[in-house]
Amino acid sequence: MIQLHDKQFVPFISAEEIDVAIQKMATQIETDLVDEIPVFIGVLNGSFMVVSDFVKKYKKPCEVSFVKMASYSGMASTNEVKELIGLNQDLTGRTIIVIEDIIDTGHTIVELKALFEQQNLKHFKIATLFFKPEAYKKEVKIDYIGIQIPNKFIVGFGLDYDGLGRNLPEVYQLRD
Ligand code: IMP
Ligand code: MG
Repeated sequence: MIQLHDKQFVPFISAEEIDVAIQKMATQIETDLVDEIPVFIGVLNGSFMVVSDFVKKYKKPCEVSFVKMASYSGMASTNEVKELIGLNQDLTGRTIIVIEDIIDTGHTIVELKALFEQQNLKHFKIATLFFKPEAYKKEVKIDYIGIQIPNKFIVGFGLDYDGLGRNLPEVYQLRD
């Protein structure tokens, strides 16, 4: 068991299981993309570990980049405006595969999709290491899923609880 801030977490998914899931995603994507060179885009901060492991397992030519979602208040203080930081590359005609650490309610991925659709992409696909089907509220199709998990809070392998836990090589879940 580990303690992060005020909460206790118990082991949930081993480093080996994570490795197998990432390998499975890499093989699927390699098979699905015939002769195009994809741009894999990690969403910071959480996805740094999964992207690092994923691209080492992806054997064909590819590009790798990272973005961060930032929100600021629009003119009316109630409407939050989302912006992509770090995308300084022309993606016209390219196949983009966003790599997420986790998709929970789906709010983030829906906003990301809308922002990327402003570019003239060839394909936009979504891959996520962890997916909570019971929490997911959106229609957007998730193209590649590593591991489906129950609707419980997890940390490790890039995921944090209030800043802590990202460095753990395996995943822990909140203790009941
Ligand atoms: P969304 O609800 O799909 O928009 O997920 C929003 C973000 O919440 C994710 O990108 C993560 O940063 C964070 N998040 C969701 N579930 C968890 C979790 O179980 N542990 C840690 N962070 C999470
Ligand atoms: Mg995230």
